[in-house]
Amino acid sequence: FRVPEPVNEPVRDYAPSSPERASLEQRLRTMSGERVEAPNVIDGRDVTTGDTFVARAPHRHDLELADVHAAGRDEVQQAIEAALAAKHDWSRTPFEHRCAIFLRAAELLAGPWRDTLNAATVLHQSKSVLQAEIDAACELIDFLRFNVAFAQRVYDEQPQSVAGEWNRTDHRPLEGFVLAVTPFNFTAIAGNLPTAPALMGNTVVWKPSEKQALSAHHLMRLLQAAGLPDGVINLVHGDGAQAVDVATASPHLGGLHFTGSAAVLSGLFRKVGENIDRFRAFPRIVGESGGKDFVVAHPSADVDRLVVALGRGAFEYQGQKCSAASRAYVPRSVWQHVRDPLADLASSLTMGDVGEDLSTFMGAVIDGRAWARHRDAIDQAAHAGAEVLVGGDPDDADGWFVPPTVLVTDDPRASTMTEELFGPILTVHVYDDADFDTVLGEVDQAAPYALTGSIFADDRRAVARATDALRDTAGNFYVNDKPTGSIVGRQPFGGARRSGTNDKAGSVLNLQRWVSPRVIKETW
Ligand code: ALA
Repeated sequence: FRVPEPVNEPVRDYAPSSPERASLEQRLRTMSGERVEAPNVIDGRDVTTGDTFVARAPHRHDLELADVHAAGRDEVQQAIEAALAAKHDWSRTPFEHRCAIFLRAAELLAGPWRDTLNAATVLHQSKSVLQAEIDAACELIDFLRFNVAFAQRVYDEQPQSVAGEWNRTDHRPLEGFVLAVTPFNFTAIAGNLPTAPALMGNTVVWKPSEKQALSAHHLMRLLQAAGLPDGVINLVHGDGAQAVDVATASPHLGGLHFTGSAAVLSGLFRKVGENIDRFRAFPRIVGESGGKDFVVAHPSADVDRLVVALGRGAFEYQGQKCSAASRAYVPRSVWQHVRDPLADLASSLTMGDVGEDLSTFMGAVIDGRAWARHRDAIDQAAHAGAEVLVGGDPDDADGWFVPPTVLVTDDPRASTMTEELFGPILTVHVYDDADFDTVLGEVDQAAPYALTGSIFADDRRAVARATDALRDTAGNFYVNDKPTGSIVGRQPFGGARRSGTNDKAGSVLNLQRWVSPRVIKETW
């Protein structure tokens, strides 16, 4: 058999008065009024612990969405045991039947479950409807559909046979279980990290971010509705460090699939290192972490495209994409044409209750800690001499709101040019036109990350110079486009250096990481 040829899910626009908009508004209203219980799901059973935390809307302090049951060490241990118990049958379930479950999940999400996942992402992660749609609906559907096709390519890879000798590869899953630790900022990533290893026959313990617990809860229900057998993916809420602690104490940890901060990824490597002699197999670690993503403009850059890319790249989803543009290098001759339009664009972006007004561009940042960090970063930058061109002045009266903020600095090593902030703050360094090549060196050296970045230039030689000088500075490099918004199947995503292991989510490379091939040679 052949798996279906995947196509990217079309993005709905939820135009005013459309039936899609009315239906989503209805789901947003019901979800805002139904404070659900979000249990752990272990071996297909709901496991409540009574140790609950409340999932709130970042843009509305008064909106309580769920009581989430945090797993203790015992529940994490049970989840590991459930994953190990399910492994024998699941790893022997033929590929076509594993595929069918995830393809069915994609169809359910494209249809009846779409509003639920979108509404949960809007309300608990404070995404605008459009940002939720491209994440919780389209990108997640794409991951589910495309991964099946990528997996097929992994299985198709077979060695050569010669007369009298048949060689073949048996693409077994990894030893033991896989731990998936997932971030708040993309429901699609939270879905991809446990399902990609599961598709390859692994069984999984999934620990989502506490700040994404509501969409994780509904996503688990969706996978169950699609027919995922008990124990294949086991959801545990709560403390990530504890889950990692319990998982790395098990000799059966076979792999880790992680997206989050560089500090946490370092901690995972350290934990695995400390325990290395306990494991039956060396665990596979696939991690995507931070970024300090850049936009470099050349004197030949198209001003209008640059302004739009900076506005969208820096401020969509409040700058909380790991790919968000957070530092820009603009030559003086271009800056004089960019400055006012960029300030006008940033000041015109609407910010507010994304669950109430579906055309709002920005919601709140994820929590009070992020809000305070952004407030302090803006204050410190202004204190150190940066100009606050637009924004600043975060307001926490109703929710954790940080307005789109543009800082302008003479100092390319100012802290907001070099440190990851993960918020709606863009810092622009204006350079002398003649210094383009020097600036490329600066872009490469200023931050330890290598996730995404863009060059804006009409001069082809400048594009070539930047592409070469920045070859190690971004895993995803864009020419005349914003550094965000990769699409599954078109721009496999991931970075190197302190940005991760670069195992490209949404590609054959990533699926390959979840198998441990056995080669069988048979002679006649
Ligand atoms: N894949 C996401 C993007 O490119 C993070 O924006």
